[in-house]
Amino acid sequence: MEKKKITKICCIGAGYVGGPTMAVIAQKCPHIQVTVVDINQARIDAWNDENLENLPVYEPDLDQVVAEARGRNLFFSTEVDTVIKEAEMVFISVNTPTKTYGEGKGQAADLKWIELCARQIAAASDSDKIVVEKSTLPVRTAEAVKDILRNTGGGVKFQILSNPEFLAEGTAVEDLQQADRVLIGGENSPEGKEAIQALVDIYAHWIPREKILTTNVWSSELSKLTANAVLAQRVSSINSLSELCEATEADIDEVSRAIGADSRIGKKFLKASVGFGGSCFQKDILNLVYISRSYGLTEVADYWEQVIKMNDHQKGRFAKKIIKSLYNTVSGKKIAFLGWAFKKDTNDTRESAAIYVADHLLNEKAIISVYDPKVKEKQIQFDLNCLQTRSEEENRSLVNVEVDPYEVCKDSHAVAILTEWDEFKTYDWQKIYDSMLKPAQVFDGRNILDHEALRKIGFRVYAIGKS
Ligand code: UDX
Ligand code: ADP
Repeated sequence: MEKKKITKICCIGAGYVGGPTMAVIAQKCPHIQVTVVDINQARIDAWNDENLENLPVYEPDLDQVVAEARGRNLFFSTEVDTVIKEAEMVFISVNTPTKTYGEGKGQAADLKWIELCARQIAAASDSDKIVVEKSTLPVRTAEAVKDILRNTGGGVKFQILSNPEFLAEGTAVEDLQQADRVLIGGENSPEGKEAIQALVDIYAHWIPREKILTTNVWSSELSKLTANAVLAQRVSSINSLSELCEATEADIDEVSRAIGADSRIGKKFLKASVGFGGSCFQKDILNLVYISRSYGLTEVADYWEQVIKMNDHQKGRFAKKIIKSLYNTVSGKKIAFLGWAFKKDTNDTRESAAIYVADHLLNEKAIISVYDPKVKEKQIQFDLNCLQTRSEEENRSLVNVEVDPYEVCKDSHAVAILTEWDEFKTYDWQKIYDSMLKPAQVFDGRNILDHEALRKIGFRVYAIGKS
């Protein structure tokens, strides 16, 4: 069998997954020309910006990787059709948000963009191609993509692979360069195996062969959803115990350390928080729930749905705690938010707990002032407007965003930590205390501050899972 040699890769979608992933492939495989395409001109311009501070995705060390490969064998373009046509391998890395309308609303993934992509690949191709699903997709999407490609592709042969992304935002470059594992799912036919091998060969440039797992397409697709579901379940488990700790004399950090020391459990993903966020956890679990229900597996669906309910409860509980501690009314009171991103070291805010906590407080007519080191005002307003809880004017008048954290805290009744950014720990908390209304309160939704030191200054401190 003639071995397929990949010289040109096209990636459709220049977002949090496509951008960093292709940058690392280009860095590690200088002999392969990697071009990332997107319909969003502004995004492509930002990826091409001379000033690496302006890259659309913030990830530690991403700027260096882009600096090394961009212009050499890494390119960003809006010429979607031309780039698809020239590539032997096309990655689909477009967004697959939860449906906001129709059948499966609020649970199923919206595959509109994937379908558009598949049709576009079919229309633009005049030679055989390997198409790689990189976006998180519900099980059996490859089948749909295959169907569209086979029926509209006019004689051209396509092999579909599933290569789910396991990178976590904030550590994307590290996760890509030193992956725990790479998963490649493909068809169990000679052509399928050849396609799998072509992708294995790419990753093998820097990932040890034993960490590259090959499976059938369905196992690969389902593994992505379930890996995230199991991780999210750990966070919801520890968060459920945080409420129990608050009601008793136990301390969640101590409990977490104690159970995490059991090597069967392990210490990762046991940090209690105001609730998990991000583009994957909620979406993937909802997909899992939807798929389970559609196969009539009610108990399975209910079981996983509880992980989401627990997370919603944790966010609501945090907001209620703030209200209760401010004498049951926050109307007209300034509340400072430190952090808006769904976790530190990223500018991504999708499903961030901060959005929901803010919404809850805004319903009670609080005035919110936000500082996040990497999130811009426009994004914060956009996130709140997306909820459609109130008018855009109201959001603008109730929420203000500052570039100085001390300004945000000044004259506030309470400071709430929503993201675990390291810099929050090193602030001059005495100065913050002096500038606040009294009693000055801190609500640490990430348990990152030195609570004893804060109490010594005079703060009233509430922390997750501490009585
Ligand atoms: C996740 C998966 O980890 C990754 O493998 C997959 O490819 C995409 O989805 P990501 O969404 O970037 O990555 O973030 P992750 O680090 O998993 O955190 C998700 C959320 O859980 C964040 O809001 C984080 O703050 C929260 N979290 C995580 C906790 O509250 N406690 C923890 O112990 C760990
Ligand atoms: P993710 O976190 O999955 O990477 P993002 O929203 O950050 O999601 O990125 C997805 C990108 O895919 C967006 O920049 C969007 O403009 C792009 N995109 C969506 N559909 C298409 C399409 N048909 N052709 C090209 N780009 C697309």
